[in-house]
Amino acid sequence: MVSKIRFGNPVPTGAVVNGTANVNGEANLRYFEKTEQGFRFRMGKKDAVYGLGEANRGINKRGYQYVSYCTDDPNHTEEKLSLYGAHNFIVIDGACTFGVFIDNPGRVTFDIGYEKMDELNIIPEYEDLDFYIIEGDGIKDIVRQFRTLIGQSYIPPRWAFGYQQCRWSYMDADAVWEVVDGYENCGIPLSAVYLDIDYMESYKDFTINEERFPDFGNFVKEMREKNIHLVPIIDAGVKMEEGYDVYEEGVAKGYFVKDKEGRDYVTAVWPGLTHFPDFLNSEARRWFGLKYKALTDKGIDGFWNDMNEPAIFYTERGIDEVKELLKPEAGRKEDISTDKLMELKWKLNELANNDSDYKAMYHNMDGQLVNHDRVHNLYGYNMTKAAAEGLEELRPGERTLLFSRSSYIGMHRYGGIWMGDNQAWWSHILLNLKMLPSLNMCGFLYTGADIGGFGSNTTRELLLRWLALGVFTPLMRNHAALGTRLQECFRFEHTEDFKSVISCRYRLLPYLYSEYLKSVYENEMMFRPLAFDYSGDEIAGNVEDQLMLGNEVMIAPVYTQNAAGRYVYLPEPMTMIVMHENGEEEKVMEKGVHFVEMPLNRVVFFIKEDAKIPVVSTEYGRKVCNDTTEGIADSEMVWLGNKNKKYQMYTDNGHSKNKKDDVSVMEL
Ligand code: NOJ
Repeated sequence: MVSKIRFGNPVPTGAVVNGTANVNGEANLRYFEKTEQGFRFRMGKKDAVYGLGEANRGINKRGYQYVSYCTDDPNHTEEKLSLYGAHNFIVIDGACTFGVFIDNPGRVTFDIGYEKMDELNIIPEYEDLDFYIIEGDGIKDIVRQFRTLIGQSYIPPRWAFGYQQCRWSYMDADAVWEVVDGYENCGIPLSAVYLDIDYMESYKDFTINEERFPDFGNFVKEMREKNIHLVPIIDAGVKMEEGYDVYEEGVAKGYFVKDKEGRDYVTAVWPGLTHFPDFLNSEARRWFGLKYKALTDKGIDGFWNDMNEPAIFYTERGIDEVKELLKPEAGRKEDISTDKLMELKWKLNELANNDSDYKAMYHNMDGQLVNHDRVHNLYGYNMTKAAAEGLEELRPGERTLLFSRSSYIGMHRYGGIWMGDNQAWWSHILLNLKMLPSLNMCGFLYTGADIGGFGSNTTRELLLRWLALGVFTPLMRNHAALGTRLQECFRFEHTEDFKSVISCRYRLLPYLYSEYLKSVYENEMMFRPLAFDYSGDEIAGNVEDQLMLGNEVMIAPVYTQNAAGRYVYLPEPMTMIVMHENGEEEKVMEKGVHFVEMPLNRVVFFIKEDAKIPVVSTEYGRKVCNDTTEGIADSEMVWLGNKNKKYQMYTDNGHSKNKKDDVSVMEL
């Protein structure tokens, strides 16, 4: 059962599509009480709190505070309060079990036992919001109801389930060929290569640097002949440059975000001075969405939308404040004082993503003038909505790979997200794992982290361990930042180990793709904490480094250095699978804690006693690298686990936009 309590006059966000009637009045808050600052729930000693999508820290969020405010912060250290997404859905599980969704696109703080250990305080900056309470038959049912409320999640084309390689940047066509050849020479399968900002002409969206990528259309075609899809980046900011059509049209039509005086708002991002398209305006959205044609016309069928929190490097306001500090002080005789230097240092730190700049931006929400700060979390969402709607017109009936950095609930219907600029740290493998179930709760199913780590230098071992988690995440992409060590798998010693791990992804595709479709159409979570499936099992409730995948599998990746294996908790008897490209060993194991050896070149996972899963046969596995994800769909399947049991297999043609009726569901 879903109840909605409205406060004030909320901006429509589009998060909820299958609406529900208002039951206005604070009395209906039931579990919560209204406080001066927001809403308070008194937590029981054993209550756990799950959710918040792309957020820091544990699977159980209790014990810290989190701020929903889409933020470009490339240092995901533990104390950080905000990351790129704003996903205001939580489930409280304990004495009472219920879900809460705060539909409000401004800043919302979730203090979950931070100030007071037994209080959950939800503090919105602007109190115009819809407060939803979802009750049901346990956590999984509550999540299912919430997912029904917010509508069906995005489905990418099947090729986007293949292994993908990215770097900031492959500077020219030769660099891309080097990557494709490098993988091919080692026999490691690869389905996509990404083009980061340097493929553009001076970082101008929808342009191609002809010197670096001559005859781009033909290049895309040659790549496709090798079964490689090229995926270019699109940034939110539009370069201010006379003669650049996107800039000139945007100015002429009034499609850019404005300042208080109604002038096009000026910020600086990669291209230098830029304007931000007003994605909250439906005409501007359509205009920008159709611009993707410049690339779809060349055969491109996948995009990633970046810098759409939106990230701001600086504005004139910030620069003026810096200049002010540098002015000679009246009557000053000596050099700038230490105090002034420190002030200058702080000022420079505050130049990027500054609150005052967000507060100075205005949107024209189809006739209604709205200050950006009140709707901040809708910006990246609507950039991706613009793209998805444009691509629907440009490639009717066909799926396009599309994912975004910033997001709000509702965007899950238009595209996926990646988890942003992580680091080549062991702890970030675990953070990657922890975000999967909470994102699934909020409808984001097509997701994954930068495998190997984006910032800082990776190691062979870290990359292999991260890949062994990545084989299960719908988006499986290796990505690294400018200036870091080259991170493509073929750059390391003993490439056969990488071949073995990545081939497992292709071998697992029939299962993973089926589970993905099932999660979309049945509003299920593909990844769940053990606590969701084994309520009452105290140990399972405490496990923060293993996940259930589908109804059949449990995963438990290694996330520490020099480990021969790890301790794994089996909440019921399971079959351990030690998989490699040419086969697997199976071993039945009892319920309980086990030390499990996990060699670097194997993918280890567990199948429940009463379940089986479909995988590509080893015979086919050997030729996997020469084939596409499509070839795999038609290839011979074998079953792992308990072959006497049934499996419900979801399949489709892998590329058309379909409805549930077009999907084949077979009991095998
Ligand atoms: C920031 C993105 O998060 C990252 O993935 C990308 O490589 C850089 N921008 C450069 O475009």
